[in-house]
Amino acid sequence: MPEFRSPFSGLSLGRKLTDAELIRAIRFMIAAEYEAIQLCSQLAESTDNKLVIEVLKEISEDEREHAGSFLRLLYELDPEEEKYYKEGAEEVEEEIEDLLKDMKKTLKKKEEKPESKEDESEDKEEEKEETNETDD
Ligand SMILES: [Fe+2]
Repeated sequence: MPEFRSPFSGLSLGRKLTDAELIRAIRFMIAAEYEAIQLCSQLAESTDNKLVIEVLKEISEDEREHAGSFLRLLYELDPEEEKYYKEGAEEVEEEIEDLLKDMKKTLKKKEEKPESKEDESEDKEEEKEETNETDD
């Protein structure tokens, strides 16, 4: 966690950061931006104060921009990093394609068997008639 007691706590190592340490620090900053977005959302959802909600919404949007800035910095400092995000995104794209294929198959099956729906409604009508007969 960051140390807030001293404005110089970031230099507590007594030296400048190595490239690897800087990259880790930037990742930490990205996580802090996402945490801030989460805190803003939680607090906004926890109040009816319209002014507070509006300010938190604006701050939350700013934090998203900050996250984007830090991400861009991270890509610059460690070009390998972006490759992993792209791979992760591609995996999700494949999952989405699989889901869409499954949905299309399901729809096609339903279109191919429209008679079964009619059968069901006929069955229900027959049931209604039967219950009406017993009521009399
Ligand atoms: Fe921020």
